[in-house]
Amino acid sequence: MSEAILREILKEYDEIQREESLALAARRQRVIKAVPEISKIHEELIETMGRYSRETILHPNNSGSILKNLKQEIARLKARESELLIEHGYPSNYMEIRHRCNKCKDTGYVGNPVKEKCSCLIQRLLERTYEMSNIQELELENFSTFDPKVFPETPLENSKLNQREYMLQVRDRLFNYVSSFPKNERRTILFTGKTGLGKTFLLNCMAKAIMDDGYTVIRISSYKLFDRLFFGSISDEPDNLALLRQLFEADVLIIDDLGTETRRNNYTAEDLFNIINERTMKGSHTFLSTNLNLSELQDRYSDRIASRLFDTSNTMLIRFQGADVRLRQSKKNSRHYS
Ligand SMILES: Nc1ncnc2c1ncn2[C@@H]1O[C@H](COP(=O)(O)OP(=O)(O)O)[C@@H](O)[C@H]1O
Ligand SMILES: [Mg+2]
Repeated sequence: MSEAILREILKEYDEIQREESLALAARRQRVIKAVPEISKIHEELIETMGRYSRETILHPNNSGSILKNLKQEIARLKARESELLIEHGYPSNYMEIRHRCNKCKDTGYVGNPVKEKCSCLIQRLLERTYEMSNIQELELENFSTFDPKVFPETPLENSKLNQREYMLQVRDRLFNYVSSFPKNERRTILFTGKTGLGKTFLLNCMAKAIMDDGYTVIRISSYKLFDRLFFGSISDEPDNLALLRQLFEADVLIIDDLGTETRRNNYTAEDLFNIINERTMKGSHTFLSTNLNLSELQDRYSDRIASRLFDTSNTMLIRFQGADVRLRQSKKNSRHYS
């Protein structure tokens, strides 16, 4: 992955840290103005913390009572500060810095002494490097914005449920799946069904929930994935190797719209098989959607892939059915899935 992208993203992390410390300063000002008592405690706290750090620098081997007393004093003042904040109607952590990522505290790196990229940084690198569908899309399409009303209450064939009830059941099932992630029995999920049935939406719901738990997710359309692999392989770009590595390493790989990619002899089929196979063997998760059915998959790829994908001992198969919901929507679909 390119150094330039990494530098650009690390600059954003610096900016986040700056914004958060400004926000903290503003919160402090507000409290200090409103509640002088907290302001007094807060000054004492800063004073004591200063003494503590001076003491550790000046007498690094001094594990004695001075440090112990200072530590106790800091704990007491902190507890008192929280108490007062709550008494005056503020959250108890109001005077503490907020982090968007609690793992790396918005530095992008974790681990001591050996620093490693935090999963939030890896995720940003993935999104930026492969120009995957806009991450902001996940703010619009996630479990909390799932709207059952977009699905009609029309009965479905071969089901006691109508389309809306059915989709609610699918949603619950997938919600439970991501709640137990990554300890799922079946690690491949295949969505099948025509367009406009909510497959991409639910893939996005899952991606968001899993990313929010700190895992890395590659979301890519089949079309884009295989174009990248194909053009990368003929140009022998180093980026192609990085993409391949990420396809194997990401905690979750989501390939949307399998079957829409350009056919290039057996190239796609072999790659697809290798990717899915390797990931399955490693116990990694792969989610796919397609509007092809079993026999179309067999035709297009191979028996080997089709039977692997439709093997319900490895794959959780979810069939989407009913009416195209895009036709019911008054709002124009503004999603750009590349
Ligand atoms: N559960 C849902 N709640 C709200 N909108 C939805 C939901 N499912 C689908 N949509 C919307 O309906 C349209 C079609 O859904 P989409 O996920 O693209 O279907 P598919 O991937 O099966 O073609 C999109 O505009 C999407 O935002
Ligand atoms: Mg789709």
